[in-house]
Amino acid sequence: MSVLIKGGRIVTAADDYVADVYVEDETVSLIGESLDMSADKVIDASGKYVLPGLVDPHTHLDMPFGGTVTIDDVESGQTAAAFGGTTCHVDFIIQPQGSTFADAFADWRSKASGKQVIDMGYHMAVTDLEEGGTLEELASLPDEGITSYKLFMAYKGALMVDDETLFRTMEVASETGALVMVHAENGDVIDVLVKQALAAGNTDPIYHALTRPPEAEGEATNRAIQLAHLAGAPLYVVHVTCREAVEPIALAREKGWDVWGETCTQYFFTSLDDIAKPNFEGAKYVYSPPVRDKSNWEVLWNAVRNDDLSAISTDHCAFTWDGQKTLGKDDFSKIPNGGPGLENRLHMIHEFGVRSGRISLNRMVELLATNPAKLFGLYPKKGTVAVGSDADIVVFDPERKFTITAADQHSRTDYNLYEGTEVTGTPEVVLLRGNVLVEGDELVASPGIGQFVPRARFGQELRAKVVA
Ligand code: URP
Ligand code: ZN
Ligand code: ZN
Repeated sequence: MSVLIKGGRIVTAADDYVADVYVEDETVSLIGESLDMSADKVIDASGKYVLPGLVDPHTHLDMPFGGTVTIDDVESGQTAAAFGGTTCHVDFIIQPQGSTFADAFADWRSKASGKQVIDMGYHMAVTDLEEGGTLEELASLPDEGITSYKLFMAYKGALMVDDETLFRTMEVASETGALVMVHAENGDVIDVLVKQALAAGNTDPIYHALTRPPEAEGEATNRAIQLAHLAGAPLYVVHVTCREAVEPIALAREKGWDVWGETCTQYFFTSLDDIAKPNFEGAKYVYSPPVRDKSNWEVLWNAVRNDDLSAISTDHCAFTWDGQKTLGKDDFSKIPNGGPGLENRLHMIHEFGVRSGRISLNRMVELLATNPAKLFGLYPKKGTVAVGSDADIVVFDPERKFTITAADQHSRTDYNLYEGTEVTGTPEVVLLRGNVLVEGDELVASPGIGQFVPRARFGQELRAKVVA
């Protein structure tokens, strides 16, 4: 299928110009002025932005967690993503303790079978390493296109690893060219604080935040940075929420260490005021690391502006409020941790980042698409609009008003963190490799169109095809 996108304002991380884009064989084959070739589909993009399809480096679809399973499977989660302009994401495979990585990978691939709406890759979350087994197997994952290892420094008794496993994984990464990712919170300290809170009869959702203080995030962030430096591995800190974690990342980057950090949409907009809401409403805001004091919002905006933090993900880990979050009605520690977000990352960051003058349009594209693609071995196949790249394109109407509401969303959860927020600017057409995925309010393509994308090793490029 060929597509001609006429007269749009092409915005990449580096450029901003008006031109036509011609798409053939799933890739961008020509960009120029007044292109007049015939095409199967012509899109008038005058007055619109032509953005690269967004890349979300942090999602959890169909994942067993917290005594239940995330409510969005690959089909519903990716449909929500597509409507939000995200055309590629990297999901977490969780290695069940004692399992091989090969079995875990096969399991996650089978969950996606026939359901993929957008393209996807995987990180491997390491929970358990055995010498003479998974320790050696870990080294072979980059050959399968899984080029990042994730470790949880929290969730004691579930996903948490000790420093030995963390460090050994970092050593393997330094050999294999994988990127190490950490959920940085001190799980031992949190475990003590949670037990003390429950013993004192403090069971409300707010205690989720009060038992996971910023110092626990700051300490783990710094520990991971020092250990990764010792091991010689590149490090990416996921879902950074507060000054205590931004500062050690900024310091490491100033020293030229291979350290990057990400924050998530929700941490710019939600706070202790939300998790304190009465009648168990606060449970909607239970995710980890937790919501923080509002003073951290500007800390995060500054950090994404000055590149102390280099990406904004969603950490989409959706549960229903009624039925799943309520598992913790009488005990905050039983509330499944996670929140929804795949559908509204672009809406929120465009409105409150770009339109409010906090970041430029180019920087928005860099944070939501280009940097995630570069860091996770997807660039330049993904993350930009350029000749030879996959024709993953969002035609974005910067003038159309849109009200965010759970009633109209595509995620299966029953609430939205940004309920009732009015934004100006929303995707109008979304293309995946030149195929129309979304047009207006319609999902045009059928599940099955999305593909698994084997990713390049850290620092290497991934090309769609060589264009003559
Ligand atoms: O609360 C969260 N963030 N749930 C998803 C798992 C994780 O820690 O990223
Ligand atoms: Zn996490
Ligand atoms: Zn996560």
